[in-house]
Amino acid sequence: MSTSSGTSLPIYLDNAASTPILDEVIREMLPYFKEYYGNPSSLHSFGRVTMRAIESARARVSSLIGCRRHEIIFTSGGTEANNLAIKGIAELARKSNPKKNCIITSVIDHESVLEAFRDLEKKGFDVSYLPVTREAQIETADLKRTIIDDRTALVSIMFSNNEVGTIQPIRELATITHQKGGLFHTDAVQAVGKMPIDVKDLGVDLLSASSHKINGPKGVGALYKREGLKLAAIIHGGGQESTLRSGTENVHGIVGFGKACEIAAQRLVSYETEIRALRDYLIDRVLYEIPNSRLNCFTQKRIANIAHFTFFGVNGEDLIIKLDELGIAASTGSACSLRHRRPSHVLKAMGFSYAELTGSLRLSIGILNTKQEIDQAVSILSQALEELRKISPFKLEADEQN
Ligand SMILES: Cc1ncc(COP(=O)(O)O)c(C=O)c1O
Repeated sequence: MSTSSGTSLPIYLDNAASTPILDEVIREMLPYFKEYYGNPSSLHSFGRVTMRAIESARARVSSLIGCRRHEIIFTSGGTEANNLAIKGIAELARKSNPKKNCIITSVIDHESVLEAFRDLEKKGFDVSYLPVTREAQIETADLKRTIIDDRTALVSIMFSNNEVGTIQPIRELATITHQKGGLFHTDAVQAVGKMPIDVKDLGVDLLSASSHKINGPKGVGALYKREGLKLAAIIHGGGQESTLRSGTENVHGIVGFGKACEIAAQRLVSYETEIRALRDYLIDRVLYEIPNSRLNCFTQKRIANIAHFTFFGVNGEDLIIKLDELGIAASTGSACSLRHRRPSHVLKAMGFSYAELTGSLRLSIGILNTKQEIDQAVSILSQALEELRKISPFKLEADEQN
């Protein structure tokens, strides 16, 4: 569908949920569906070709985050990487020293981290959840207060939040953890490929990444594991990925992920400046043109592509459905928790009131979005809000909140 401004609908502004696969990525993947179908574990030439492709992808992923090739374990995505890191460290630590059964995360971490923690809690681990400020920031003092002795096996804190975008002080948190003899993992699914990340400089022991957030295919991700660190597998079988992730490798997915990482590395600097400029342009227009709107989380320490708003007087889910009808793809927050239709645990932890939570909307920009699309999206958003507010039972509570 074409619009009067020349843009074509729909306009996709949900890039924190997933991103379109780039043509270059698809081109690189295609031969691994049709021509190169050998099992990478096979000794014949068909197997050697696919094994070489995996190793070349491993080099590309490792170079994006500053580690060595053998420190990368391919997984089925960010969720599995998080589970492998958390369960793999926790179970092993407790086995070697039964006293080491404390694990720490934050109240705003992704469900794939929180559910892994809840599972370990049921198995007797002592679990702590660090609070956040109104800006979704974790205070290093809170970790210092929580990690009182050497019983902590693991601290897992997300790099950048998937709903509001806040970036955490990962280097400082890792240092505090190490001072108390614990290991540090970060879920960097929303940050890898969007800002410079060097695992050695950060001093993290483990880091999770996902392909589909950076214009690669879905169903593939990676866990960085510092050389020499012992980790227990959570999937057992043929011993692929240095015995840490058994199962025949998703070769075409891994190839696509590798290519997506290579492209992300090449455009890392321009990504930050261009996407941030587009995002800030969107924010300025929304706040200036749409009454009773508010930007949530305006700290400088946030990822370049996410803008999170509250539009008072409407329900966020109604707004998303309306926007979808009008050709805009947006989100109230995490795609995963929407499935359970629960209010956002992130916004709740940030201390949001019912009115603030209800009217929330996340717009996340990707590398294929244009300024024309943003212009068009703001007009459509304005129209959608005007229509919804006419019939909405929710009060305009912006004045009370501001
Ligand atoms: C912060 C964060 N962690 C983990 C995940 C899960 O990654 P995947 O979809 O690759 O399993 C997501 C996906 O939304 C995410 O945003």
